[in-house]
Amino acid sequence: MTAPSAKRSDSQQMKAIVRTKYGPPEVLQLKEVARPTPKDDEVLIMVQAVSVNRSDWEMLLGAPLYARFGGLLRPRHKILGSDIAGRVEMAGRGVTRFRPGDEVFGDNLVRMGGFAQYVCAREKVLALKPARMTFEEAAAIPQAGVIALQGIRDKGKVQAGQKVLINGAGGGAGTFAVQLAKSYGAEVTAVDNTGKLDFMRSLGADHVIDYTREDFAKNRQQYDLILDVVAHRSAFAYRRALRPEGRYFAVGGSVAALFQILFLGPWIGRTTGKRIRVLAVRPNLEDMVHVAELCEAGKVVPVIDRRYPLGEVPEALRYLGEGRAKGKVVITVDHSKT
Ligand SMILES: NC(=O)c1ccc[n+]([C@@H]2O[C@H](COP(=O)([O-])OP(=O)(O)OC[C@H]3O[C@@H](n4cnc5c(N)ncnc54)[C@H](OP(=O)(O)O)[C@@H]3O)[C@@H](O)[C@H]2O)c1
Repeated sequence: MTAPSAKRSDSQQMKAIVRTKYGPPEVLQLKEVARPTPKDDEVLIMVQAVSVNRSDWEMLLGAPLYARFGGLLRPRHKILGSDIAGRVEMAGRGVTRFRPGDEVFGDNLVRMGGFAQYVCAREKVLALKPARMTFEEAAAIPQAGVIALQGIRDKGKVQAGQKVLINGAGGGAGTFAVQLAKSYGAEVTAVDNTGKLDFMRSLGADHVIDYTREDFAKNRQQYDLILDVVAHRSAFAYRRALRPEGRYFAVGGSVAALFQILFLGPWIGRTTGKRIRVLAVRPNLEDMVHVAELCEAGKVVPVIDRRYPLGEVPEALRYLGEGRAKGKVVITVDHSKT
């Protein structure tokens, strides 16, 4: 075992999936690049698994426009990938909570860089990986799990017997949201495409709607909470689909829909008592750990649809971007092969 680690420290190189411009998965290349060095408040992590989020896809394309935050013409991050799980290789001087060898996971949204053999992450975004959880399972949790927890528990304040609709329920955040809402005793309607209906039932959804055939905002049903991963309707359509005092939160969607919700939501609230808002999800270590604990306890399952090796990140992103993924897609970084 001494030879490989000696080789790593000699070369200080690593393999990574790199891009220099916005575009389709073809702009991504597997390259040898310099291994990053941790700052005082960071650790260097040997990546074991990293999950793919829609935000990676959006940042790859540079669309919607909000995905160009910090880099309007050229991408701010050459290496994407935020939901990381791996082993601490080296700790910065100011790091107190981790040491080399610790198994950690976290949402590295500010630094990104997870589609690589090594990544630096600030100590404050990381937690110890539960021992019984695999690196893949841990990597599936951070962004999607926290979106779902903040949407269902904190903002949605879901209670037993309430009617909850999750739009985009078959994807990463949606699969956690369906399970969480069910665990709080809600009656859950899950909306996604035709190919995901059985899958959403298997997560516990009481009702499913195929968005290619039916518009949930036009079927006269009303809900106590709508958590929308892909908002693209008018704010008035959402108002129609809410019960009196109901809550609607958009997590992602078209820029036009999100702006309309931002501007009209408060006015709709004042005139009808229905709350229509954009949910600004705050990466939160406590929330991430809480979702991991729910997973450990078997109350929620991090659903992994497919696993890809590091060299196939472009295919993994395409699979998710084309809307085929049921739950999460995870990259497994095999250091003996890469
Ligand atoms: N607000 C915040 O602070 C915050 C923070 C982090 C991330 N985000 C955003 O949160 C979102 C998270 O998404 P995710 O990771 O769960 O994405 P995902 O895994 O791609 O899931 C999205 C699901 O929605 C489905 N879908 C697409 N169009 C739909 C429609 N018209 N009606 C119903 N379902 C539809 C997709 O399937 P098909 O495409 O096959 O139809 C897919 O199953 C991203 O947009 C990300 O940018 C927001």
